[in-house]
Amino acid sequence: MYSDDEIKERLGKYGAVYLPDDIKESIDDIIGNEEIKERLEDFFGALKKYETIVEKLKKSKLTPNLTVLLYGPPGTGKTSLTRAFSKLYGIPICVVESDRLVSPLLGDTIKNIRNVVELAADIANENGSFLLFFDEIDAIGSERSNIHEVGEIKRAVISFLQVIDKVNYDAIPLAIFGATNHQHQLDSAIWRRFTFHLKFDFPDYNLRKLIIESFLNKMKEAQIGVDDSIISGLNDELKIFQTISKELKKKIGREITEFDGAVFRKELAEKGINGILQLTIGYSGSDIERGTRVALFKTFTTELLTYDIFYKSLKLVGGTAIHVGRQDFLSSSQPDINRTKDSGSDLSMPPEI
Ligand SMILES: Nc1ncnc2c1ncn2[C@@H]1O[C@H](COP(=O)(O)OP(=O)(O)OP(=O)(O)O)[C@@H](O)[C@H]1O
Ligand SMILES: [Mg+2]
Repeated sequence: MYSDDEIKERLGKYGAVYLPDDIKESIDDIIGNEEIKERLEDFFGALKKYETIVEKLKKSKLTPNLTVLLYGPPGTGKTSLTRAFSKLYGIPICVVESDRLVSPLLGDTIKNIRNVVELAADIANENGSFLLFFDEIDAIGSERSNIHEVGEIKRAVISFLQVIDKVNYDAIPLAIFGATNHQHQLDSAIWRRFTFHLKFDFPDYNLRKLIIESFLNKMKEAQIGVDDSIISGLNDELKIFQTISKELKKKIGREITEFDGAVFRKELAEKGINGILQLTIGYSGSDIERGTRVALFKTFTTELLTYDIFYKSLKLVGGTAIHVGRQDFLSSSQPDINRTKDSGSDLSMPPEI
C-alpha cells in the first residue's frame, strides 16, 4: 500500500497528483453536460466495483477497458468534471501534461510514457482504483507533437497503445483518461483505443444563462451586492432568444442555433439585442468565470455588481471561440445555413477513422 506522500513523490514529476480530499470541485459546479455526467457515473460506478466485475467476466474474455477520451474546446469543463468525479468516488488522480512526456531525445518519449503508466498501474494494483489523466493527449503522436522524426512519432504511439493494452489485459483497476482540443489531429489508433468518447462544447444560451447565474449566486454567497437588473435583464434576453429560435424553426423547417453561422445573429441584430447572452456567444464556462473574476475586482470599490460592470467585464475577457478560430462563431455578412458539417474548422467532429 502506497502512502499519499509516496504517490505524490512517485508521480509528481509527471504531473499534478490530486487526492480526493485535495479536490475542491463538485459535480454540480459544472453546469449542464447531463449526458456526459450520466456516462461518467456509469464509468466511475464500475471502476469502484472493478474487482467483482472482473471476477465475473474472467471466463468470458470480456474486460471493460477503462478508457475515456474527453474532447472539445478549452475551458468547457473536461478536467474539472473529471476531478469532481474523482473526489465523489474517492479515487486519486494524476493529471499529466502529455507534452512534458515528449522529449526530443530518441527513445525518451517512449520511456516516459511507459514509466508513468507503469507507476500508476502499480499504485492501482496496491491501493485500489487510480486515474491517470493525459491532458493534451494529441501531443503524443500527432502533427503538432514536438517529435520531429516520423518513425519516432509512430514508435511513441505504438508504445502508448501497448501500455494501455497491457493495463486492460491484466485487468488493473487503472482508469486512463485522455483530453484534447485537437481531436482531428489525434492519431486514429489512439482515438479508437478509448471506449468512451465524450464531447464537450461551448454552452448554448440556455446553459450560459445557468452558468452566469451560478457565478452570480457565488457572488451573493460571498456577501457581494448583485443588482437585480442583471437577473431581470437575463430573463428578458432569454425570452427573445427563445422567440428567435421558434421563429427560425418555423421559417427554415429545422432547429437553428446561435452557432449555425450568421442566421441567428442577424435576427438578434434586427431585434436590437446587445445584452450579456448575446455578448457571450462563443464563450466557454471558463471565459464566463474569468469575466466574473474581473467584475469581482470592480465590486471591491463599488460594492455593487451592476449590469454595466458585469457586461464590460465579460466583454474584456472575450470568448475562446474567436481565439480558436471556430468559423461557426465568427460573424459573417452572408447567412450560411447551407454550410456543410465538415466545412470550416468545426472542432466537434471526431477524426476520420
Ligand atoms: N459548464 C460549466 N459550468 C460551470 N463552470 C464551468 C463550465 N465549464 C467550464 N467551467 C469553468 O471553467 C473552469 C475551467 O474548466 P476546465 O479547466 O475543466 O476546462 P477544460 O475543458 O479542461 O479546458 P482545457 O481544454 O483548456 O484543459 C472550471 O473550473 C469551471 O469553473
Ligand atoms: Mg483541461
